[in-house]
Amino acid sequence: MGPRLLTELARLVMQPHPAPATALCLDLSELPLPPAAAQADLPAWMTAEWPRWTAEVQSRVTPDRWKHVQRVALLAAQIAYAAGLDTRRAYAAGILHDLARDLSGEELLRLAPPECELDARWPLAVHGRAARSALETLGFGDTVVLDAVEDHVTGPRPGHAIAACVYIADVSEPGRGVNDDIRTLALRDLDAALAQAISSKVRYLSSRGTEVHPRTLALYRWLERERPVTWAGETPA
Ligand SMILES: [Fe+2]
Repeated sequence: MGPRLLTELARLVMQPHPAPATALCLDLSELPLPPAAAQADLPAWMTAEWPRWTAEVQSRVTPDRWKHVQRVALLAAQIAYAAGLDTRRAYAAGILHDLARDLSGEELLRLAPPECELDARWPLAVHGRAARSALETLGFGDTVVLDAVEDHVTGPRPGHAIAACVYIADVSEPGRGVNDDIRTLALRDLDAALAQAISSKVRYLSSRGTEVHPRTLALYRWLERERPVTWAGETPA
């Protein structure tokens, strides 16, 4: 099952516009686990409740955003698989990450009050935190997934490998038309891909005189200090 599904994922991920129905029906329990992982009991949100969460996202975003969301989820699962991580949580976080992306600035700041001056001036900066807040209100409780959803805008908190998969997938999914090199690198070296993605973002914004979000800047400085890092604390479900 694993290799066949991975082949299918690869085919979908590499197409800018995969047919929505194909990815929409992807059952989390079908996603391959790393070979060494033991089969564990799956929580209800991964099984019977999962269609409700996909429908929740689809009802809140534009059709084009929904296509992007599916590409991010599939790529995040692939990156996670390549790194020996939890493909299911990576996929789930990919599906959920842009839940709040199409809300108004006023709604975003109501869900996620500004933490800094940049948030107040540019409410899209909080759409990851706003998605987390909305999901928690709806009853979603997996903290690994919620952290990844929250961090997808400003960068993964240090050591959070699933959040790194989702962040990289979001910036490099084929529909973006940029960062193909980061996508390719992520499939063999997640740490290196993250360092490249964050440093190129910080340098690009700085070169344009655009303010870098304090969370991203903190991550950039941590990577400078700590890289190469060992992603710890993530065990396959
Ligand atoms: Fe987003």
